Amino acid sequence: MKQLEIGTCKIEIGSIVSSSFEQLLTEKYAHARKIILVDENTHDQCLEYLITSFPVLEEAEVMLLPVGEENKVMEVCFQVWEALSEYGMVRSDVVINLGGGVVTDMGGFIASVFKRGLDFINVPTSLLGMVDAAIGGKNGIDLGSYKNQLGVFQHPVAVYIDPGFLQTLPTEELVSGYAEMIKHTLIADKEQWKLLHQLDPIKLLNSKHYETLIVRSVEIKTTVVNADPKEAGMRKILNFGHTIGHAIEGFCLQTEPVAHGHAVALGMIAESYISFKREGISQRELLEITNYLTQIYPHIPLDESDKNDVLELLKHDKKNERDTVMCVLLDGIGNCVYNQAITEKEAYEALLYVDSVYTLN
Ligand SMILES: NC(=O)c1ccc[n+]([C@@H]2O[C@H](COP(=O)([O-])OP(=O)(O)OC[C@H]3O[C@@H](n4cnc5c(N)ncnc54)[C@H](O)[C@@H]3O)[C@@H](O)[C@H]2O)c1
Repeated sequence: MKQLEIGTCKIEIGSIVSSSFEQLLTEKYAHARKIILVDENTHDQCLEYLITSFPVLEEAEVMLLPVGEENKVMEVCFQVWEALSEYGMVRSDVVINLGGGVVTDMGGFIASVFKRGLDFINVPTSLLGMVDAAIGGKNGIDLGSYKNQLGVFQHPVAVYIDPGFLQTLPTEELVSGYAEMIKHTLIADKEQWKLLHQLDPIKLLNSKHYETLIVRSVEIKTTVVNADPKEAGMRKILNFGHTIGHAIEGFCLQTEPVAHGHAVALGMIAESYISFKREGISQRELLEITNYLTQIYPHIPLDESDKNDVLELLKHDKKNERDTVMCVLLDGIGNCVYNQAITEKEAYEALLYVDSVYTLN
């Protein structure tokens, strides 16, 4: 069992059955009412395992959230708050978020706001949730096409990362989560990049032998968040690929939603291109990154009008400072710089670059 911490939040990686979860439930929350938030898929695929492993949860109330990013919205939160109120939940009660990033983002937000804050525990079930969304204390929901515009910083009491849950995760979701692992590698671990980019990613994901990579990814995120919990500075490096990636994801939400990691992967190609143009990385490094990502993630074609919509969404990115779009750029692989202002022209050219690499490959 690998154990890490962010402030008072415990993070354990390994089988949840061998973790401190049961002790937490039977000691700290012995008299608390327990609510388990799931979406339709984690209700069907993960809940039974959790409840049969921990009979103390047999009495818990289960609340079903609609699946998908398009439901990470205030309307759903209202329904859950009303239900929490009907159940008579009080501050000493606890919410258990069992799901991917949508459940942990929205469940963390719901818990943090209700009665000025209930404790919550994250049990991520998607790869993206395990290496990223469930840890770090960012909880939030979307506002229209603008991602994560409403939210709070609040750490869960604990995060239990059990890779066993990944057995039922569809391959395209594994691939989506892998994008955040690539991001962690590109911003902070040159040695791991040397290793990773020579492996066949699809074989790697099918092999299920990537627990050590999950641990490394969580270590990177944990180190960054501990150094800057509220994103005053260096935590922004975790947003590499996310400025342009979020704009693409937000645009697709209006038509045909794409997985978060898929959009971030294309965002990383675009932002690597800007890094290259600014002489942060060499052409060889840009090609290495581009070739690796394009073999895993398919193109999301955007015509001129779509690109204009994406550029418009960029103007609303949370990382912006007033009218300036801010971005994280690579400064060599394994290093990066944040608070880099980029122009609309640079963003547009980066989108054209993404088109061009898919046309060539
Ligand atoms: N808070 C943060 O720091 C942070 C960081 C990165 C991403 N995010 C957010 O995370 C979200 C994306 O997370 P995600 O990709 O996990 O999305 P998700 O929660 O929608 O999960 C993806 C899909 O996998 C299903 N699923 C999850 N676990 C499963 C399992 N074990 N078996 C079968 N199906 C399963 C879900 O039902 C869903 O259909 C986005 O909203 C993004 O903004 C947050």
